[in-house]
Amino acid sequence: MSYDLIIKGGTVVTTGSVGLADVAILNGKIAAIGKDLQSAVQTIDATGKIVVPGGIETHCHIEQESATGAMTSDDYFTGSRSAAFGGNTMFVPFAAQHRGQKIPDVLATYDARAQKSVIDYSYHLIISDPTEEALKTDLPAAFARGVTSFKVFMTYDKLMISDDQFLDVLAMARDNGGLVMVHAENHAMIKSATARLLAAGQTQPKCHAESHPPEAEVEAVQRAIALARSANAPLFFVHISTEGGAQAVAGARMAGAKIYGETCPQYLFLTAMDLDRTDGAKFICSPPLRDTATQDALWRHLTAGTLQLYSSDHAPYRHDATGKLAAGPNPPFHKTANGLPGIELRLPLLFSEGVAKGRITLQDFVALSAGNAARMFGMDHRKGAIAPGYDADIAIWDPDATRTVSADALHDNMDYSPFEGWQITGWPETVINRGQIVIEQGTLKGAPGDGTFIPRRPFEPTGL
Ligand code: URP
Ligand code: ZN
Ligand code: ZN
Repeated sequence: MSYDLIIKGGTVVTTGSVGLADVAILNGKIAAIGKDLQSAVQTIDATGKIVVPGGIETHCHIEQESATGAMTSDDYFTGSRSAAFGGNTMFVPFAAQHRGQKIPDVLATYDARAQKSVIDYSYHLIISDPTEEALKTDLPAAFARGVTSFKVFMTYDKLMISDDQFLDVLAMARDNGGLVMVHAENHAMIKSATARLLAAGQTQPKCHAESHPPEAEVEAVQRAIALARSANAPLFFVHISTEGGAQAVAGARMAGAKIYGETCPQYLFLTAMDLDRTDGAKFICSPPLRDTATQDALWRHLTAGTLQLYSSDHAPYRHDATGKLAAGPNPPFHKTANGLPGIELRLPLLFSEGVAKGRITLQDFVALSAGNAARMFGMDHRKGAIAPGYDADIAIWDPDATRTVSADALHDNMDYSPFEGWQITGWPETVINRGQIVIEQGTLKGAPGDGTFIPRRPFEPTGL
């Protein structure tokens, strides 16, 4: 018998071990892991390289209209291409329901957009209009087709839902085996701080951080935990950016609640000082960048397991009139599109700052880049691990490769990177999705349409 592909002699990181091995692939699946595997149509020499599951990016905004009408600069082709160059073989962007829109229409829109994806994909639905029809009919139908997670907002005028509605969504998800994700910031605190700053003529980008104080996140996280516990529903916090928010998650977990969370590269590697640059608009995201003490706290919570996921929150708006500067060359902070790009650098930054600097192990890297996301979002029957029978989704990393980040060398549709000039050690050089080579030695081999929709299973929180 001949395999389709053998990856020979790399350091393979599986769920339970790290060691030198060959990985054989047949018909898009991992067929064997062992020593001296023989006979394949194609062989990749991975000597000196690290062989890990392809990354799974579960927080990114791709070809998505914001509530104010701005379109992200990446579509499903450029977004998936950039993700693949960053070592990912699957992503789960949002399919955003804006008020008045019907869920089946939203899913049909994103199904059409996603046809261009180079890598596998699913969606989380954003629910801004939880009507009776949505809760009783449309969301259960979305479950049935394998869309099993939903994001809601506690802030943003055009997206936020009330606590009443939040409880309804939690109950619906609980009854159907779904997972609710929440953007937790207290809307009133943001509104009042914004009004105070504007009344004082303070409109610079740095005011964005002041207008979204840490207390706004902490209060909303605490309230959302209370709502989830009263509904006996699991809840996942996206983009935790404060020590207080992480502590609230840790406390709820210690009390046995099914509460989960993520943080993002920008909260580990950047600070609000970046907002005080002439091009500070590039660094406006919500929740905002914080400080170095918060970075340390978030690293601790990430390594201690309070936060199970590390996601990019790639929300790409160019630094021009199509994006950040839509309201003019010096837009006031509250009229600047929120979001940072980072889908391609998520994993290189984690490898470089985490593995290469000794903060995390290779197995932590695999858990944070793919394994935990697969478990959290119902894909761990086929994705997130190198194991026989799993999809052959693999990234081969050169742990010694060094790069200086330059927006020009990235593969998204952006005109800047918030990490410009960063020195990175460790880079994915070959990326394989269901046995097909997507990136080979830094060259795109995959094509639009190679990715496929992956139906996800109900939420099953084993071990997270
Ligand atoms: O600023 C951000 N994060 N924009 C994207 C939307 C969101 O809240 O995740
Ligand atoms: Zn958010
Ligand atoms: Zn986001």
